[in-house]
Amino acid sequence: MRVIVCEDYNELSAQAARLVASQLILNPSSVLGLATGSTPVGMYRHLVSMNRRGDIDFSDVTTFNLDEYYPISPGSPQSYRYFMNEQLFSKVNIDINNTFVPNGMTDDPEKECLDYEKNIEAHGGIDLQILGIGRNGHIGFNEPGANLNSATHLTELSESTVDANSRFFDSEDDVPRRAITMGIASILKSKKIILLASGASKSRVVSELLDEDINTSVPATLLKVHPDVVLICDKDAYSGTRLGVDIGGTNVKFAVVEGRKLIYKSSIRTEKSSADTLISSIADECNRLKKLYPIKTVGVGTPGIIRDGRVNAANLPFRSTPLASGLSKLVDMPVTVDNDANCAALGESEFGAGKKYQNIIMITLGTGIGGGIIFDGSIAHGKSSMGEIGHIIIEADGGRPCPCGQHGCWEQYASVSALIASAKEAVQSEPNSLLSKLAEEKGRLDGEAVFDAYEKGCKVAAKLLEKYTHYLAVGITSLINVFGPDAVILAGGITSRGNLLIPMLLPKIPSSDVAIEISTLENDAGSLGAALL
Ligand code: GLP
Repeated sequence: MRVIVCEDYNELSAQAARLVASQLILNPSSVLGLATGSTPVGMYRHLVSMNRRGDIDFSDVTTFNLDEYYPISPGSPQSYRYFMNEQLFSKVNIDINNTFVPNGMTDDPEKECLDYEKNIEAHGGIDLQILGIGRNGHIGFNEPGANLNSATHLTELSESTVDANSRFFDSEDDVPRRAITMGIASILKSKKIILLASGASKSRVVSELLDEDINTSVPATLLKVHPDVVLICDKDAYSGTRLGVDIGGTNVKFAVVEGRKLIYKSSIRTEKSSADTLISSIADECNRLKKLYPIKTVGVGTPGIIRDGRVNAANLPFRSTPLASGLSKLVDMPVTVDNDANCAALGESEFGAGKKYQNIIMITLGTGIGGGIIFDGSIAHGKSSMGEIGHIIIEADGGRPCPCGQHGCWEQYASVSALIASAKEAVQSEPNSLLSKLAEEKGRLDGEAVFDAYEKGCKVAAKLLEKYTHYLAVGITSLINVFGPDAVILAGGITSRGNLLIPMLLPKIPSSDVAIEISTLENDAGSLGAALL
């Protein structure tokens, strides 16, 4: 089976339509096998446009549809005959007499099935068969466990199919419980087959189809015996179920992601006694989740520097620890490890504020400044420190010392710790300021107090934030100059005051065509991004 993974549904539809168009150009009197359901709708739309432009011709084409509910009248909007007329037949130059859909009103379904099968054979068989896939792996209406060596036949629909298809009916009770469907044997006689799958709701069945051997519980796996099948799916359907792990100083967070959808999250306390205990506690939770979900891969975000598969993290017991290989042995799945800030950037770019942009830089403002650079959907990596944006030097002479060994690093000026350090100095020199009073009332001086005082009109706080946003803007401007991203996304607790921060920051950044936005995922960005590693 060949697999084509498309960016999204529109690309999938265009790709499928191109393959059908090639078939019709090579053989204008082709016999097409057609499918209903929501998945092929976009493909039909493209085919209609191609036909209207004169690129493809349906005048000599014959079509056989896979299936039809039973009983149902062809005039009923839920019938597959009605669907096909609406989506394709009435919009292209096909002779309606050359379009066949099983008769949902027949008094003699057995004869209808035999005749349908004979009719396909009389037309020389199907040249190209289009298929969708049900969430339970059915193709046509060949349900799990049914006789899969069958020709066209009358079948009972499974409960899950009735449930899935009830969206097209007024109520579940209105869904016919039976259908006439081409059998797996009829489908496998087609010369070529295109199977379409779109959306996260299909990711589980797509991974079953790709990973499992032929079995009757997932009827689509029978397609594996056919020599010419192309599966065209979008990223959401393809990526399967993944587990993301975000190791923090206090908690380890877990996110189960299906396609691009978060389906479950959990967290455990960070075991800091040794690398082994931390890794085995993470493995225990991974194995628990693996029993509940069909997880195929694990991605881990960790603080620190990762070089040649080994992690060094100051605040965790990782000292040259082979985290990926150690965890992989315990969970029996492939494990990929990356820096936590990079994972958060990837998460934000795929699930959060960065979704609408191609290239983003995410900046996390906290004790230091972390960051990740995402270009074309991937983390930009260097040997080890790429993304250590907190350590770009913004003060070349006499800059503040940084624990990294340099002087003048950006995080010494624009991190939240730097803001608090400046606030402490200001409070000492201006003990009567509103900020000093607020800090006294609160019993501590934190970033929050600076914003609160500023909101209440404190001049000292205003000056502090002016200076702080100046430094923030200097670093952001440098990053924009070097990388030219579409957007810069700011994250970290301080961004909860984005309503005050952003208006002060924006006028200080010259590149007005780069969007400056606040993260929307907050604490989940890291685990979600790790899942996509
Ligand atoms: C129906 C059809 C199938 C189709 C399936 C998936 O049950 N009989 O041929 O593949 O639905 O539909 P959708 O593409 O809407 O998910």
